Amino acid sequence: MQFGEHFIDELKARLRPSDVIGKHVKLKRQGREFAALSPFTNEKSPSFFVNDEKGFYHCFSSGKHGDIISFLMEVEGLSFPETVERLALQAGMELPAADPQAEARAASNKKTISWIERSKEFFEKSLRREMGKEARTYLKARGLTGEDCKRFGIGFAPNDYSALVDELTQQGASMNRLVESGMVIRPDDNRENRKPSRKPWDRFRNRIMFPITDPRGRLIAFGGRAMEKDAKAKYLNSPETSIFHKGSVLYRYPEARKALHSPNNGARGLIVAEGYMDVIALVRAGFEHACAPLGTALTEDQLALLWRAGPEPTLCFDGDKAGLRAAFRSVERALPLLRPGQTLRFAMMPEDMDPDDLIRAKGAEAMKRVLEKSIPLVDMLWRREVEREVLDSPEAKAGLKNRIFEALRDISDEGVRDQYKTALLGRFDKEFGRPKWTPGGKYKTWGGKAKPTKTQQSKMQPAAQHMARERRLIGAVLEWPELLERVDQTLFSLKFSSSACESLQNALLSYWQDTIAVDKRALIAHIEDEGLAATIKPIVRERNLAIAAMGGVDANLTKRQTIWLAEAGKLMGRESGGADREETRGRLADTIRSDKTDALQRLSRATGPKKSS
Ligand code: UTP
Ligand code: MN
Repeated sequence: MQFGEHFIDELKARLRPSDVIGKHVKLKRQGREFAALSPFTNEKSPSFFVNDEKGFYHCFSSGKHGDIISFLMEVEGLSFPETVERLALQAGMELPAADPQAEARAASNKKTISWIERSKEFFEKSLRREMGKEARTYLKARGLTGEDCKRFGIGFAPNDYSALVDELTQQGASMNRLVESGMVIRPDDNRENRKPSRKPWDRFRNRIMFPITDPRGRLIAFGGRAMEKDAKAKYLNSPETSIFHKGSVLYRYPEARKALHSPNNGARGLIVAEGYMDVIALVRAGFEHACAPLGTALTEDQLALLWRAGPEPTLCFDGDKAGLRAAFRSVERALPLLRPGQTLRFAMMPEDMDPDDLIRAKGAEAMKRVLEKSIPLVDMLWRREVEREVLDSPEAKAGLKNRIFEALRDISDEGVRDQYKTALLGRFDKEFGRPKWTPGGKYKTWGGKAKPTKTQQSKMQPAAQHMARERRLIGAVLEWPELLERVDQTLFSLKFSSSACESLQNALLSYWQDTIAVDKRALIAHIEDEGLAATIKPIVRERNLAIAAMGGVDANLTKRQTIWLAEAGKLMGRESGGADREETRGRLADTIRSDKTDALQRLSRATGPKKSS
């Protein structure tokens, strides 16, 4: 339904925001406004305000802001027309008359939908009957309880050509309607040499049935999974009908969107898996904000739906080559649609595992780790360009640069394009630009400058102080990963005497090599993934010491950098000897070089846990 501007204005004039919003949040008058605890976050003191005069709400803790319409869309996950209809009812306003054609279409669709709903009831009933025994066993083997089946509306289509069509005609459905709904197939009578006309038959037979709703929650289609191993199609979907367009729907979208907006869900976007069973496994494992496309790559419509729910959806892909290709396709599709605050993340599953497999094998924790290790779109784009060919010649590197510029051209938002340009060209320079990391290079004189004095060389210098300094240097980088950008060369050429710090140095190195946008959470996840969770514990425990040593909480990044480098200088100054230092630099530089020649391997190492089977 279309609403004129006038209608919306009238609607907003008639309803007081505090009345509408007050139905969802407990408002307390505070001067000219109302205050409440934010419905979007879990907060302890009120930072959510409603202003009737100005007709808006503002939430300081989540940054959300809007009118009564956007409020209801947000908290209830409703679409715009639905929200307006709801509010019009509340305001006692009659809905504007739609055009008669559209009205007739809507009425017809409604009837079709009612037969799809009856079909669902029939499938659910069949699952509970004797004929559904094998299906029940199958579902049980896949870890689903009867309760789960009810929750997800899972049913069973009997192994019979006319079970559903007979049932529904008996309930009063016309054959045209059943064909229109996609549930029944009518033989093509117009073909030449046609066989004697057959009765229409059930589309879905001997399949586990998953109900599919549109973004507004209306049941419009099914996905059916074959029971036999050698079935022609493992999954069969309803055909495209006047109400079902596969590319505009995501499995379980309305529920996922609602879950994302519930106050105890802190995610920045929906999780997108590849299959129905993955979504179900995710939801059961507590990731209720999961959805999936219906067996195709994400379309623009589906991306738009994702962004309507949250700014940063995470797409899960298999960690193998095919999964990577699918991820690259999504990158391509997304680039023209990127906007400030509208991007994607990519979570690469361990090879040959989908979320369902992983959760069953290793539990929800393992899935959580995969999600935490997800990489932003800009990193995935870099990876796509780097992996096209081996980058061992100037020509190949020039080709890479061209491809970067080509990709940048695909980004239509200027602000986003600028940011990508900075990030990608920066990364290019870092990896392929001026030669860096060369032993005896820029920092050779450094040791000289801080040449150990006799006193420092004295063995009286307490080793403890030295170790504490090492921990502070690492601790500061863990606390402010942005420092990496500024101290990387020094950090990676230091020789740590404690093996704990040395392992962390290596973990920081592998993280740093594969990252464009440093992120504290991702960094910690990476370190823990390298098996160093226990190793960082003492350092994290001392984080206050590290903070204090680096200029305190108020220092800016430049100040921290200066102090950090000075501290590192002291550490180098105490090293046993120059030869040793050279050896360290050489070793690290070798690691870096050999890693670079094998970009592909390195990248898959960094983004997906090792093959587990
Ligand atoms: P997958 O082949 O990855 O299967 O299909 P799956 O989701 O892991 O299924 P299970 O675990 O074997 O039951 C992913 C999605 O692709 C679509 C379906 O939407 C499926 O959920 N698909 C797959 C089809 O539409 N047709 C097919 O024949 C196969
Ligand atoms: Mn699966």
